Amino acid sequence: MKVIVEKNYEELSKTAANIIKDEIAKKPNLVLGLATGSTPEGMYRELIRLHKEEGLDFSQVTTFNLDEYVGIDKDHPNSYHYYMKTTLFDHINIDPNNTFIPDGKVENPEKYCKEYDRLIEEKGGIDLQVLGIGENGHIAFNEPDEALNVGTSVVNLTESTIQANSRFFDSIDQVPKTAITMGIGSIMKAKKIILLANGKKKANVIKELLKQDKITTKLPASILLLHPDVTVIVDEEAYNG
Ligand code: F6R
Repeated sequence: MKVIVEKNYEELSKTAANIIKDEIAKKPNLVLGLATGSTPEGMYRELIRLHKEEGLDFSQVTTFNLDEYVGIDKDHPNSYHYYMKTTLFDHINIDPNNTFIPDGKVENPEKYCKEYDRLIEEKGGIDLQVLGIGENGHIAFNEPDEALNVGTSVVNLTESTIQANSRFFDSIDQVPKTAITMGIGSIMKAKKIILLANGKKKANVIKELLKQDKITTKLPASILLLHPDVTVIVDEEAYNG
């Protein structure tokens, strides 16, 4: 696992956006895996700037998002569909038909989850996956547990994740308790992975992750130690605490 420590959040965001830019330069029809949450917001701002000021072209890019809450409408302000539309897709020249986000309101979630993984395969697999990390070590919504799902699945969110995500909702009761998430296997199939973490709140989990020489389902991100091309990009606060 390669580690890049940047001075601050702005530099971290630029470094992540530049990696995406370089991959699009190499492969204009890149298949890009995306995350939501606070961490990638700066990276998305920088991608929008690169598109508007330097002509970064998303017209042939396909995206797959990691996750979505179950039971939430696509146009709900806290849905990840809404987040992606307002944070990135509305501001770049991506074809909406080439953007895929799990549907949290689907009638047959099990069938749908298999279909999501099949669709990723059909598009040639994810070339570059962007990940954040939960304070409890989750990646996507693969929470610490006795066992981890291989494929895309419906999962229960832990209390700590519900608590962390309640900052986006009016009250903690409104935070959905379940989500559809890409599985650990879906993520590990990506050819290249970047994991971003910023701020003091992530210092403990980053310290844990970087000292690991074992994989454990109690720290889902530790599975990334088995992947041949992972870059962890952190700011000084997340690195030093
Ligand atoms: C979001 C996702 C989550 C977040 C993680 C960190 O699509 O998959 O794993 O990356 O919860 O969230 P933030 O960035 O809000 O600290």
